Amino acid sequence: MISRPKGTNDLLPEDIWRWQKLELLIREECAKFNYQEIRTPIFEETGLFQRGLGEATDIVEKEMYTFNDKGGRSMTLRPEGTASVVRAYVENNLKGTGLPAKLYYLGPMFRYERPQAGRYRQFHQFGIECFGSSEPSLDAEVIMLAYGIYTKLGAKNVELKLNSIGCPNCRPNYLEKLKEALKENQESLCSNCRKRSLTNPLRVLDCKEKGCQATISALPRITDYLCTDCSDHYTEVKETLTLWNVDFVEDSRLVRGLDYYTKTVFEFSVENLGAQNAVGGGGRYDKLVEEIGGEPTPAVGFAMGIERTILAVGDAWQKEPDVDLYIVIIGDTKKEALLELIRARKQGLKAEMDHLNRSVKAQFKQANRLNAKYCLILGPDEIKQGKVKLKNMRDGEEIQLTLSDWLGGIK
Ligand code: HAM
Repeated sequence: MISRPKGTNDLLPEDIWRWQKLELLIREECAKFNYQEIRTPIFEETGLFQRGLGEATDIVEKEMYTFNDKGGRSMTLRPEGTASVVRAYVENNLKGTGLPAKLYYLGPMFRYERPQAGRYRQFHQFGIECFGSSEPSLDAEVIMLAYGIYTKLGAKNVELKLNSIGCPNCRPNYLEKLKEALKENQESLCSNCRKRSLTNPLRVLDCKEKGCQATISALPRITDYLCTDCSDHYTEVKETLTLWNVDFVEDSRLVRGLDYYTKTVFEFSVENLGAQNAVGGGGRYDKLVEEIGGEPTPAVGFAMGIERTILAVGDAWQKEPDVDLYIVIIGDTKKEALLELIRARKQGLKAEMDHLNRSVKAQFKQANRLNAKYCLILGPDEIKQGKVKLKNMRDGEEIQLTLSDWLGGIK
């Protein structure tokens, strides 16, 4: 027996309804905010992610599924959606369709991480990317769309953290100060932080090691070094979120794990998910389009982890019944059952009947398993008189109706 690859999941019918419900909500919310769907390939040239995400990120350093295709080209299963959508935006000249270009996507992503609850090697993201404007109102709108979905899901204790990590004008100055402070504190940092101090100092702020926390909290804060443009931008994002009653907490240590961000960064987390509690995150990335070969284009986006979001919803959702109606065959009424089954489906009911020659008792059991709202009972004597019985499976009430218009008994 060959098992599924480590870190992947089979999405079974007993759970898929949660995915469908979430996807429906996502599509509805995207339509309200005027986002259009885009679907890009699941693999891309490796260089896209190396250039886009940054060579010194965990993803590019150690988590990519990279392989040579038969033509000897290095390809990578997409570890996230932003780089691919940026490539598609540039390659298809989506600027020509009018700005801002507002795109959303849903699909599998691949990261070679150590699997644990909420962390998989194949996982799914819903993401949005908005191109062509540096206005803070669009940062706030991206956050609002995400916030609205988490709120509507009924997930409890969702926290929104917000920060600004500056731009190429002000960040180098901050990085100098940060590097100096890190140099002075090497002894109190873990080996990973010591390495990061040289390769990607901003990422030190994100370290979860207990021993590093005291040192990290005393490091210079990026928000104290923002240039006027970044600082004004950040203020306006916060003002707009406040205007829309979006609750957020500022976290000057929030830097995110990808290198493309400028100015706004944000993350949504949920209390009860343990270590993997980030259910989504995003930010502004005003330099990435240029980096990938397009003309300078400001952009902002967000991605939600679908698996973690579904875990966060827990049992706040009730499954809809599989069927509205189950037809119970008694004696030789199968032909009538076949006719009524199609009539019910034509009327828009989710309907099912027995195809396994089950006993009447077993048919009722199956109806309960499917959580049927009604059973239509076809008995030979009643059928001869043009009658059927309709049983309401919620309250057990049974009524007799005529064969020709029993559908009127369904509420
Ligand atoms: P990210 O924070 O790397 O951002 O991923 C977004 C979300 O994907 C995470 O918050 C988490 O819920 C989920 N996720 C990430 N890795 C895994 C995993 N191994 N298993 C399960 N879930 C996972 C991005 O990917 C950016 N592209 C977001 C963005 C869009 N920024 C701007 N636009």
